[in-house]
Amino acid sequence: MHKVIFDTDPGVDDAMALLFLHHHPDIDLIGITTVFGNARIETTTRNALFLKREWKIDAPVAKGAGDTFIPHRVSHEPPTFIHGDDGLGNIGVPDVIDLPLDPRPAHRFIVETVRANPGEVTLVAVGRMTNLANALKDDPDILGLVKQVVIMGGAFDTNGNVTPAAEANIHGDPEAADVVMTANWPVVVVGLDVTLQTVMTKQALADIRDAAGKRAELLFDLSQFYIKFYESRVVDGMVVHDSCACAYVVAPQLFETRSGAIRVVSGGLADGQTIQKPDSKGFGPSDWDNLPSQKVCMGIDAPAVLKLIHDTIVAVKED
Ligand code: BDR
Ligand code: CA
Repeated sequence: MHKVIFDTDPGVDDAMALLFLHHHPDIDLIGITTVFGNARIETTTRNALFLKREWKIDAPVAKGAGDTFIPHRVSHEPPTFIHGDDGLGNIGVPDVIDLPLDPRPAHRFIVETVRANPGEVTLVAVGRMTNLANALKDDPDILGLVKQVVIMGGAFDTNGNVTPAAEANIHGDPEAADVVMTANWPVVVVGLDVTLQTVMTKQALADIRDAAGKRAELLFDLSQFYIKFYESRVVDGMVVHDSCACAYVVAPQLFETRSGAIRVVSGGLADGQTIQKPDSKGFGPSDWDNLPSQKVCMGIDAPAVLKLIHDTIVAVKED
């Protein structure tokens, strides 16, 4: 059983990933922490509470960072053209969800939950890396206590999706990402190199809705706006970025990884670019030296990952 804290900025593809984690029999979802990104922090937190209520998820929600690791570092507008004004495809999420938040800020929730479950917690981070960087700053000793960190973010041997160099989750807080990826804990990065290959067609999403009942109806409805955006990019369906990271936790055999130290470019033309120094290659002295070797996903069995998502969500039929 994998104990997972899901650090997220819901977000349409975040919502699918959350439903996957909630339903997968090998996942024990022990916390949801929110971060700014696809919408402002008030909105992503409200959305997490909304999904918790609609999908009857027990895990507590802790509100996280609304600003970058270095305060006021960037002020990108949320991508409302991808996720809608409400972050969930403009389905009309109520302004207020009458559920309590965990009293702790996300980074404290992470620190205390990791300390209470030494060696057992997998952090799955699919938004900006800010909460994880804040947790490390607050309590660097958790490094040795986390089982694994699985990140959706970055673009290594391919272009970014915000700029030619950078992917959104990393571009939104590059310094936080550099802290997280250079820290001495086991990191696996599931970036655009593999997520862009993992497209759920409209029909496949409709099949999930038809087979899984009410919970998947909500997933289907909130995904339509996002699908329209991707259609304009000539993709027939939805790119399931965040679910790929969740799939890695339970099915790493569906991925090919490359090992090596990772750095994140901060500032300048390539702000937010992720660059790995593969262990298999030799280089002169550089800023990648003497850093932990992390894993970057370079290959994916996309049909098998899409099937895993389908099978996991439809396996639970009750409302
Ligand atoms: C990532 O950015 C967000 O828009 C998505 O939720 C995903 O986590 C893809 O670049
Ligand atoms: Ca996300």
